[in-house]
Amino acid sequence: ESSYDMYGEHQAGIERPGPSSKQPSASYVSFDLTATSKSDAADLMQTITDRLRNLTKGGAAPNLGPGQPPSDSDVLGPDIPADGLTGTVGFGASMFDERYGLASRKPVKLTPMRVFPNDKLEDAWTHGDLMLQLCANHQDTVHHALRDILKHTRGGMQIRWRMEGYNSPSRPTGTGRNLLGFKDGTANPTGTTASSLIWTDDPAEPAWAKGGTYQVVRLIRMFTEFWDRVSITEQEGMFGRRRDSGAPLDGNNEFDTPDYAKDPKGNVIPTDSHIRLANPRTPATANQMLVRRSYNYDLGVDTNGNLQSGHIFVCYQQDVQRQFEAIQTRLIDEPLVDYVQPFGGGYFFVAPGVQDSNDWLGRGLF
Ligand code: HEM
Repeated sequence: ESSYDMYGEHQAGIERPGPSSKQPSASYVSFDLTATSKSDAADLMQTITDRLRNLTKGGAAPNLGPGQPPSDSDVLGPDIPADGLTGTVGFGASMFDERYGLASRKPVKLTPMRVFPNDKLEDAWTHGDLMLQLCANHQDTVHHALRDILKHTRGGMQIRWRMEGYNSPSRPTGTGRNLLGFKDGTANPTGTTASSLIWTDDPAEPAWAKGGTYQVVRLIRMFTEFWDRVSITEQEGMFGRRRDSGAPLDGNNEFDTPDYAKDPKGNVIPTDSHIRLANPRTPATANQMLVRRSYNYDLGVDTNGNLQSGHIFVCYQQDVQRQFEAIQTRLIDEPLVDYVQPFGGGYFFVAPGVQDSNDWLGRGLF
């Protein structure tokens, strides 16, 4: 599909297209708002909505005449393709501070991102008032969309941090791989199970938040040079899955369900493996599950000559404490922590979808 409708109860870029069919290219752009009043912030949201309306449809950019600057960067040429673009907008906890008088409308579970024991969060890569997730079939489409939005919103917000992501195709089949070489996304909930875990349904939430969801973004560097020296058996024990097929260590195929009751001591799938800690598959932990929609990133090389690449972990849920934080707490001292380093990200509340051509993102909030 080359174009995703912007309208609906929920924003696109979460279930549409879904985690297993997510577009290959992405950008996570966190902004600090510079708008000085609530009405300027509302105008900003209308401008972002208008730009996304145009960009996700595609079409020729208007020619304003020879004396004018170009109306478009033309990065994609004069005929702008929709190219599977989705734009998904979320608000950080800081949006609800004293600046815009929105404190009473803050989603009840929205907090700044917590610091976990193995985190080394850098302020320059963390938090933000507004998160824009752009996804498309090609990286230049994502870049073009960002340029367009920046050009039209210069007075209202400025970039705090930005991370480009890419997604591996199925290799050889099934789910794409992360940069540690393992299939990533296999056990994601799908269909109505996924929907029932993502969209807020708590009556304690403010009315405008209905149809929204909480997004967690974690920028996690991978120490690939060290990882590539670890034996395959040890790597597989850390995840609890086969590296080649993605099958759980007690199964044969990628989508086989691990059976922990049969292996209480963890002789086959170690009890401290990533999948077993993340999802012990007990009735008590079922409502902690979330939907992951992660990307790889690559920032080149650090000053020591080591690759600077890793994982943009992204997940969606109704309640960050009940879902992401419960899982992350179990993962605190997993063996994988020697090979990865969270250094940024944030918690955001993704506004409900835009209903029609008169509606705009966050209308109910303002
Ligand atoms: C499963 C990789 C961080 C939650 C998996 C799998 C891999 C993986 C390879 C198995 C295949 C699959 O079902 O997707 C990674 C890497 C991470 C990371 C490389 C960091 C660099 C996290 C974090 C969380 C998380 C931060 C949440 C706090 C989960 C969950 C599953 C999973 C819930 C599914 C377990 C199941 O249902 O069997 N991850 N992950 N992961 N991961 Fe992660």
